[in-house]
Amino acid sequence: MSGSRITALGHYQPSRVLTNLDLEELVDTNDAWIRQRTGIVTRRIAAEEETVADMAAEAAAKALAASGLEPSDIGLITVATCSNRDRCPSTAAQVAARLGIPSAVCFDLNNGCAGFCTALATADHTLRAGAAKHALVIGAEKMSDVVEWTDRSTCILLGDGAGVAVLSATDDPKDAGGIGPVVWGSDPTRADAVRLMGAWQPRFAQEGQSVFRWATSELPRIAREACARAGLTPADLGGVVTHQANLRIIESLTRQLGLRDDVVIARDVVDSGNTSAASVPLALSKLVESGELPSGSPVLLFAFGGGLSWAGQVVTCP
Ligand code: UT7
Repeated sequence: MSGSRITALGHYQPSRVLTNLDLEELVDTNDAWIRQRTGIVTRRIAAEEETVADMAAEAAAKALAASGLEPSDIGLITVATCSNRDRCPSTAAQVAARLGIPSAVCFDLNNGCAGFCTALATADHTLRAGAAKHALVIGAEKMSDVVEWTDRSTCILLGDGAGVAVLSATDDPKDAGGIGPVVWGSDPTRADAVRLMGAWQPRFAQEGQSVFRWATSELPRIAREACARAGLTPADLGGVVTHQANLRIIESLTRQLGLRDDVVIARDVVDSGNTSAASVPLALSKLVESGELPSGSPVLLFAFGGGLSWAGQVVTCP
């Protein structure tokens, strides 16, 4: 196969909306601080009994329906997540069972917030190698399960949800750049800068300022490299969908890239907060559903987080 491309997307968010004013009732914070430091206004929180697999399956069902494929066409399911409770079966295997997908290889992948872009590259490489023809690549998180609700420095940031891309192998040369070459890596000197450590229940913690400085200084170079590997410059992009951690990071990164004025920049962090590995596919799926990102646009996907790890690639919008 000469490559793979995204043929459909889907997403799911829980119905409960948690506002900044709601958080004022829980911890010593205020709406103005949260908006000014993070850009976040609301986030979605899953119901007590709602699981990562439930959200992943809801989003996957939508993406599969939009793709026009049959469940039996799917040969690979991978779920990027760091907040699922179940060690086994994998979240991916639970999605297969719920959607009646008969014989896909199923595995979860944990690369923190960089998980979806890592999974997308892994699935692309698998499809290029001919080991499957169609894949469900999922980012799904229930961060509300791993947040310390008394810690104002983190509980205001996180949210729950899932996003899915259907990936199909292609040997049509014009589709070869559907998923561009990945740029990925990690910085072991900052391995503990974002943490979800300890036995269940692990609790989310991070060195916020240090990650902020790293993200605003290091990411532009890495994002440019992802464009260059796809044979593009940032000025060629139609859209930029980065990990939705903080609006100030998104704005700093996009300002430094030298984008066109009409480029579409995902700002879903405002409505959804930081949904870790779900944030990129969730934001991408919403922009495509709303018609803001036209089919065929080159879109930079880029994510970073615990590790500190990063992964990104330019994809063609379905
Ligand atoms: O997704 C994984 C990757 N993670 C990231 O990308 C996160 C990157 N970092 C950030 O986004 C920002 O560092 C945060 C949003 C997490 C924090 O913003 P900050 O501007 O770096 O604030 P800070 O941690 O330096 O705290 C400034 C002040 C402190 O008070 P003092 O010591 O100056 O008196 C905090 O105690 O703000 C205080 N503070 C709060 N005040 C009101 C911390 N959290 C809150 C809060 N409400 N929720």
